[in-house]
Amino acid sequence: MKIALGADHGGFELKEEIISYLKDNGYDVEDYGTYSKESCDYPDYALKAAEAVASKECDLGILICGTGIGISIAANKVPGIRAALCSDTFSAHATREHNDANILALGARVVGPGLALDIVKTFLGAKFEGDRHLARINKITEIEKKYYK
Ligand code: RB5
Repeated sequence: MKIALGADHGGFELKEEIISYLKDNGYDVEDYGTYSKESCDYPDYALKAAEAVASKECDLGILICGTGIGISIAANKVPGIRAALCSDTFSAHATREHNDANILALGARVVGPGLALDIVKTFLGAKFEGDRHLARINKITEIEKKYYK
């Protein structure tokens, strides 16, 4: 499974930790930056990673900024992206199971590295349940179609 990673300066250090975990556990990783703690703009990295997921170049994505909020808002502007900001493991598996979330967003200033890694493991280990949830996701896609012309 190939995972797209993206972060701003607020998420840079956590991104590096997550990349180490992913590589150690057999995942393919595409790192879209940022590559230092120098101040930068989270939409730039959200866009690169979200496009890689939307185009199916990567299977899933993980995006990190200080709160996780800005980077998830930006990623969700890309058609086909369902980015979920999670600060707990229940949300991390529920959003895969019910929302078929294809990007996990994390706030590096909100969760510590231990919890963040548990959230990553939980998100990647969960599967979309389909069934009644599919109809709801199709309705999200209909909203996209209405406004993205
Ligand atoms: C950067 O200082 C900060 O605003 C950013 O990482 C993020 O928290 C925005 O939502």
